[in-house]
Amino acid sequence: MKVLVIGGGGREHALVWKLSQSPRVDKVYCAPGNAGISEIAECINIRIDDFEGLIDFVKYNWIDLTVVGPEAPLSEGIADAFIKEERIIFGPVKAGARLEGSKQFAKDFMQKYGIPTAEYKTFSSYIQAEEYVRLKGAPIVVKADGLAAGKGVIVAETVDEAIDALKLIMKDKAFGKAGSKVIVEQCLKGEEASFMILTDGKTVVPLATSQDHKQIFDGDKGPNTGGMGAYSPAPILTDKMSNEVMKTIIDPMMKGLERERINYRGVIYVGLMICEGKPYVLEYNVRFGDPEAQPILFRLDSDLFDVLKATAEGRLNEIDVTWKEGVSICVVLASEGYPGSYKKGDVIKGLDHFKGSRDVVVFHAGTTHNNGEIITSGGRVLGVTALGDSISSAQDSVYRAIEKIKFNGMQFRKDIGNKAIKKK
Ligand code: AMP
Ligand code: GLY
Repeated sequence: MKVLVIGGGGREHALVWKLSQSPRVDKVYCAPGNAGISEIAECINIRIDDFEGLIDFVKYNWIDLTVVGPEAPLSEGIADAFIKEERIIFGPVKAGARLEGSKQFAKDFMQKYGIPTAEYKTFSSYIQAEEYVRLKGAPIVVKADGLAAGKGVIVAETVDEAIDALKLIMKDKAFGKAGSKVIVEQCLKGEEASFMILTDGKTVVPLATSQDHKQIFDGDKGPNTGGMGAYSPAPILTDKMSNEVMKTIIDPMMKGLERERINYRGVIYVGLMICEGKPYVLEYNVRFGDPEAQPILFRLDSDLFDVLKATAEGRLNEIDVTWKEGVSICVVLASEGYPGSYKKGDVIKGLDHFKGSRDVVVFHAGTTHNNGEIITSGGRVLGVTALGDSISSAQDSVYRAIEKIKFNGMQFRKDIGNKAIKKK
């Protein structure tokens, strides 16, 4: 069988890595991929928004399954285009991708189907939004409605900060059209966790739980990023809490999708805030989390190709998804300056230590080849991932591995996993 993975980050490297282990998979292609992916798959130079080009590639190369990594092509309707051409694709149709593509749609959906979430109001007028912020006071959260590469959410500790955020989004149009509406919502205090499920519209299979670390600095300080590290499982999602999430969040969500006639086939990532023992939804994503996919796929025992193909074909009920015991951790190595503007083009040293290693895998995100060397080409550069019997042994392996890797300005968090240890 042949598979095409769309995307070129750490999540896609983890998908390609796991798919290529399937005895049923003869060849994996990736568009566009990155330097690490090119070692285990054939990278093809087709843009992820060139649906026609991708469909042509799939037809001429007899691809059996296409797996979409990032949200942008899903929001633009890549799954709809593939389905129209009778091609098998893992990822939701455009109507389903609105759960991530429009925060207003997601919030209204949650309200309509009784899913616990922060109280909110949507605005397209700056003056009314400012008035509401002054009325509610701080802390308060300001969100651009559309996709903003994870940067469209500002958790404001003061009214002035919230007003600056409104100006940035609505007046300066920092996120373009994505900011033509804003959501202003109550600030929830608690602990975050990521709860992902697979669904083919009928069957729901929860994935292993995980916890991301969004802020750039240790101790959850500094601005939000795409995610600086994650581990799986998340101790806060005990069996009891997971059951509560299934009952109060996933069941009504699935009913809602059915009522809205959305035939969703893919992953739904529910970003949770656990406040005083009760789970609330912060956001939906319509794809695997990044970096969460790295530690999660590291723990997956089942054949990923079987799992994703069955989901795409509406046969998820036939599949048993099993997990390796233990704890996995992924620590992201980022470029200097990230999540602000960052430098590119620095040579990465030490990657050869991990060739063929099974205990520690270095997933690539922003990397590319240059004159026979691998250089940095993005904000998040690598995701060093390891599995251990316990959180501390996984942490030891990851941080020992990181000592061997070097590039100019490399920054990473030194406390990934500490929260899980404190919980015990
Ligand atoms: P989102 O993209 O909506 O998940 O927001 C990104 C990050 O902003 C989340 O992971 C949280 O850390 C934070 N956040 C979003 N909404 C809220 C909220 N209502 N209360 C507190 N923090 C929030
Ligand atoms: N790690 C957060 C996300 O993938 O959205």
